[in-house]
Order: sequence, then C-alpha cells, then structure tokens
Amino acid sequence: MAKIFLLFSVISLLQFNLSIGQNVQGGYWFPESGFEASDINSDLFTHLFCAFANLDPQTYQLTISSTNNASFAQFTNTVQLKNPSVKTLLSIGGGNADDTVFASMAAQSPSRNSFIDSSIKLARSYGFSGLDLDWEYPQTPSEMANLGLLLNEWRTAVASEATASGEEALILTAAVSFAPTVNDLEYPVQSININLDWINLMAYDFYDPSWYNFTNSHAALYDPSGQVSGSYGVGAWTQAGVRAAKLVLGMPFYGYAWRLVNANNHGLLAPANGPASADNGAVGYRQINNFIAQNNAVIVYNSTIVTNYCYAGTTWIGYDDTQTIATKVSYAKQNGLLGYFAWHVGVDDNWALSQQANQSWGAQYTVIRDSWNCEDI
Ligand SMILES: *[C@@H]1O[C@H](CO)[C@@H](O)[C@H](O)[C@H]1NC(C)=O
Ligand SMILES: *[C@@H]1O[C@H](CO)[C@@H](O)[C@H](O)[C@H]1NC(C)=O
Ligand SMILES: *[C@@H]1O[C@H](CO)[C@@H](O)[C@H](O)[C@H]1NC(C)=O
Ligand SMILES: *[C@@H]1O[C@H](CO)[C@@H](O)[C@H](O)[C@H]1NC(C)=O
Repeated sequence: MAKIFLLFSVISLLQFNLSIGQNVQGGYWFPESGFEASDINSDLFTHLFCAFANLDPQTYQLTISSTNNASFAQFTNTVQLKNPSVKTLLSIGGGNADDTVFASMAAQSPSRNSFIDSSIKLARSYGFSGLDLDWEYPQTPSEMANLGLLLNEWRTAVASEATASGEEALILTAAVSFAPTVNDLEYPVQSININLDWINLMAYDFYDPSWYNFTNSHAALYDPSGQVSGSYGVGAWTQAGVRAAKLVLGMPFYGYAWRLVNANNHGLLAPANGPASADNGAVGYRQINNFIAQNNAVIVYNSTIVTNYCYAGTTWIGYDDTQTIATKVSYAKQNGLLGYFAWHVGVDDNWALSQQANQSWGAQYTVIRDSWNCEDI
C-alpha cells in the first residue's frame, strides 16, 4: 500500500514538473528570409530552431553554408541576450535539401555514425541545446525503417555523450508530416516515440495555388469532410501510438495567394486559376497585412475549419491571422499537446502572431492528466 502510494506520489511529481517546465512555444529562424537573428523577440519563445544545417553528400557530416556559418555559431548567444532561458536547436535538412542524401546516410551504419558524431560535436561547439531532423521525406519502406534505426542510434549516442560530458543531454526532435503517413508510408512510430523528445507536426502546405485550382486554407485546423487538417493529424499520430505530450503543432506565419476566376466569387473553394504572386503564391504575414492595408481587402474568419482569408479584386489569400493562431494554440493546450511552433518567425508582423500565441497558451488552464502507463517511465 505504502509502496504504491509512494509510486503515485513520485509519478504525480514527475508529471507536475513536466507540465510546468517543458512546454514548447517554438519558432524557426530561416536566415534566407533576410531576417536577422538579433531582431528575434526571443521573449515570446521557449525554443528557437536555427534552420538549416545540411549533410555533406560524401562524408555525411553536418555542414553549414559559409554564408550562415558565423550567424549559426552566434545564434544561441544572440537570441539569449533578450531571453537567457530560451533554448536553441539546430535544424538539419528542410524542404529544399536533397532527400536522397539523407536516405543514403541512413542506409549504412558507418554513415549514420558519421552523421551522428558530427551533429553532436557541432551542436556542442556552437552552444545549441538540441538537434532537429527535417528529412522531407523518406520515400520507401526501407528508408522509413532506416529512419527508425537512425533515431535509436542517435538517442544512444546523445545519452552517452551526456554521461561522458556531464552536461544535460541534447534535445532530439524531428519535423514530420502532419499525419503519421507520408508518401503512403508509415513513419517508424515506435522509434519516434521512444527516442525523440518531441515531433514538430508540419500542419501546413496542405494546398497551394500551383496545383490546386480552388481557394483554400493551406493549414486548416478542422476538415469536417475529410482528413486534411491539423486536428486530423494530431488524432492520427496519437492513434498510431505517439503520446499527445510529444506532439507540437506547427502553424504557418505565411499564406498562399490565389488568383480568382471571378472577383465576385470569393469564398472558400471558389474557382481559381493559379498563384497571384511569385513563389507559388506564398506570402508572409507582414506582406499580407501590407496587401490588406493597400487594397482595403476584406478579412474573413471561418471558424468551421479555422482559417482567415482576405480578398481584394481577383487576389485571394488564405492565411493564419491572430484569431486562427489563438484558436489553434488553445486547441493544442486543451488537447494535452506539448506546444506549438511557427514557421517562420521572420515573417511575423511586429510580433503580432507570436504575441497572440504566447498569450493564448498562457491563458489556458494546464491540465495534468491522471493517466499514465509503464512506457511513460
Ligand atoms: C565556421 O565558424 C566557426 C566558428 O566561428 C569557425 O571555427 C569555422 O572555421 C567556420 N567554418 C567555415 C567553413 O567557415
Ligand atoms: C489550373 O489553372 C491553370 C491556369 O488557368 C491551368 O493552367 C491549369 O491547368 C489548372 N490546373 C488544374 C489542375 O485544373
Ligand atoms: C466556412 O466555410 C465553409 C465552406 O465554404 C462553409 O460551409 C461554412 O459554413 C463556413 N463557416 C462559417 C462559420 O462561416
Ligand atoms: C508570455 O505569456 C506569459 C504567460 O501569459 C506572460 O507571463 C509573458 O509576459 C508573455 N511574454 C511576453 C513577452 O509577452
């Protein structure tokens, strides 16, 4: 009896610590956007991701472009000036990286080792608290299996490095598809659940005007008639076996601009014929607000799927404004997720979205769930 009581006390204490100490209010910094790290209002974040390091295709060691090297080396010091407790992670890969190099790295034990060793060394020498793998995306069942092996070995190496150095272990995370299946392949869910501290769900880019000829939200929270939404992804990941407390919901600080076929037909799912601007129509939040001000655009919030959109003339933009961000963050908190992250902080407008996210997270009552199982310990 006493033993059981003690066990429960220890567990509630652990859960309490987890629930007060370790939430993730994250944001990616992407220097290609031209935004300086020193301009990040790091007070609004618990974790900042520095994106991206890459893989040398011969040695499989981490590389950082010569353009970014100095600012990556300084990133942690830079953002900690405004918030000494913000943690930084080095992100590896990203949407523009060559996924075949990741596939060949993960396929063999020596190349996995080379990657793992160099990632730990680089993280330590540049002062990062963790590493974030953005392999977009494994393409075959064996690549998925190799990802699972890589995560096992990475976790083992990170744990022994921490023991040897006496430092806190590096955090290990990955940015993954919004749902646990991508290219019709299941992620190695068990390995993810055991080895990663959390996963960043990229719950955006569901549609874009380069291939979809109807206006839409590219990052809806709900999809009443289908499976293309953030909440669907969260449900699918938890059903696949990853605990909600390991999920971090991604939110885009950018939208997509469609060209309407008819300026008078400007709702969701209105016919469109391609992007209304460069970059397949991708537009940052600050630019969207400029467009709204200059064109007197009409702003609509649709609470059914949770999105904002605005239109003026034949330009229609689906995006996340403050209402959308507030609803998504409350959803994340209420459903026991670890937190949220933004892609990417440089396109926020005077920190309006980051501030809204921080405020909405803080305003939610923290639920300490009373269920646990042996896997948790
Ligand atoms: C990158 O920066 C580090 C630290 O400032 C420096 O030691 C290293 O030589 C640089 N590497 C390259 C390839 O520029
Ligand atoms: C979408 O619209 C563009 C421009 O009118 C057209 O070239 C393209 O074929 C359309 N795509 C689809 C899938 O209908
Ligand atoms: C949101 O948009 C959908 C699709 O057009 C529509 O069915 C729904 O009624 C809208 N919800 C609100 C609250 O306007
Ligand atoms: C973020 O939210 C917390 C909790 O509501 C609040 O105490 C803090 O001041 C906010 N940070 C900023 C920079 O506004």
